Amino acid sequence: TQAVPFANEAFVDFTKEENRAAMQAALNKVKSELGQTYPLHIGTETIVTEQLITSINPGNTGEVIGYVSKADQSLAEKAMQTALTTFETWKKVPAAERAQYLFKAASLMRERKFEFSAWMVLEAGKNWAEADADTAEAIDFMEFYAREAIRLSENNEHMPLTPVAGEENRLSYIPLGVGVVIPPWNFPLAITVGMTTAAVVSGNTVLLKPASTTPVIAHQFMALMEEVGLPAGVINYIPGSGAEVGDYLTTHPKTRFISFTGSKEVGLRINKLASETAPGQIWIKRIIAEMGGKDGIVVDETADLEAAAQAIVASAFGFQGQKCSAGSRAFIVESVYDEMLGKIQALTEQLQVGLPEENFTTGPVIDEGSYNKILDYIEIGKSEGRLLTGGDKAEGNGYYIQPTVFADVHGRARMMQEEIFGPVLAIGKAKDWQEAIALYNDTEFGLTGAFFSTDEDRIAEALNNMHCGNLYVNRKCTGALVGAHPFGGFNMSGTDSKAGGYDYLLLFTQAKLTSRKK
Ligand code: NAD
Ligand code: ALA
Repeated sequence: TQAVPFANEAFVDFTKEENRAAMQAALNKVKSELGQTYPLHIGTETIVTEQLITSINPGNTGEVIGYVSKADQSLAEKAMQTALTTFETWKKVPAAERAQYLFKAASLMRERKFEFSAWMVLEAGKNWAEADADTAEAIDFMEFYAREAIRLSENNEHMPLTPVAGEENRLSYIPLGVGVVIPPWNFPLAITVGMTTAAVVSGNTVLLKPASTTPVIAHQFMALMEEVGLPAGVINYIPGSGAEVGDYLTTHPKTRFISFTGSKEVGLRINKLASETAPGQIWIKRIIAEMGGKDGIVVDETADLEAAAQAIVASAFGFQGQKCSAGSRAFIVESVYDEMLGKIQALTEQLQVGLPEENFTTGPVIDEGSYNKILDYIEIGKSEGRLLTGGDKAEGNGYYIQPTVFADVHGRARMMQEEIFGPVLAIGKAKDWQEAIALYNDTEFGLTGAFFSTDEDRIAEALNNMHCGNLYVNRKCTGALVGAHPFGGFNMSGTDSKAGGYDYLLLFTQAKLTSRKK
């Protein structure tokens, strides 16, 4: 509860036999529950539709995770009407009471963390540690935003007002209305939970449209919120086609805000469509868009080269490079360039590709579309750089691709500019550390970055000059922790929001000033 200060959920230590056994038991349990049909949740109703989304295991494509009901526009409208009605009561529930649902859900998720992680191993293709980190982040988001909602509701705690004699002044953060929450598949629990609970604990009601490749894990979260007694209609679960249901809700006059995390292309489309005013609309829609990245690591000649190589490989290939924070670029100064290439190649070749449930380091990419797109980029890479390792599909009954590294890639090459979102690393050579930073900054994105050096003056300059939302020194550029590393980027990486930070809930609220004569 809020009496205990927020602390990050500890990661599971899978070197311990008891934890490995618990994970295996959770995988067995989840496997016995595969292939079920899941309904939409609209208010108190659960609706099984005729058309279903089939969710499969990307690491074993013959295995069906579940069949999920699919909303069309009329069901999306029904959900909107339900959310509008529910907003009228939910907005009056005190913040401290709303927060209790999140505390309860966090506590239950903690009890069942292996099971939540097992669903992600099977539906998203995460290895055990990646899945566990996703579950831990989901717990953190609930614990953090619950405390934040309480803090924000406490009188003038957040934004002290200048005292005026004879007046009693107060600033309160009130909710916005009905929000559409559109998460990606790559953090199918953490981001879904974070975006949804931030909106709800702030007093809004939500239409949750999960990503179509990971709707079952989103349903487990929906079921958890029902189990903790969240009033019906506060979260409405409506999987559906982005183009059909997404566009319908984006242009809907009653949509007050859209909280989106996903690609630049879809984020820009939502931003454009939402900026049009529909007949009957009486507000400017608020858009919170957390988008893609072309993140990178810069290494100078004073750096601990072994640590830098390890960070580059971890950042490029963690969850097969399918993180918005993935370090898909590296810029290395020429005096240590060849030595670094040798280290990076050796570490990359140690990565073993295989089934996530057997906990291979490197699993499949998410679906056939991604698989083909990444393989196409690998072909482009062969003409833009020197293939160091990988470069092809990998064995297995799923969407497996070899961890691939290209060296000598020009800063303006497509491999250096476009988000590939797969296990592909492009490395460029710089004459010195300043040129390496300039190459790093030459991107339309600005999400994460890292600088490796032992020179304090250079570190100070890098901290000022590398333009990204999450900049790290002498560590990998993935793995932001809630509360410690508020997360979100600049430019085409989004609307500069900071998930897991102290100002995130402001995005889901509006400030009302009241002044009373004494
Ligand atoms: P995506 O843009 O393809 O899809 C994201 C969501 O948008 C999905 O739920 C999808 O169904 C929905 N969608 C698609 N078309 C829509 C439309 N017209 N209207 C409304 N919704 C629509 O992205 P993805 O493949 O799921 O996720 C990967 C992308 O997400 C990468 O670009 C990655 O960098 C980005 N990402 C960013 C962050 C961040 O915090 N900045 C975090 C994770 C992922
Ligand atoms: N928040 C995630 C990370 O930092 C995406 O890797």
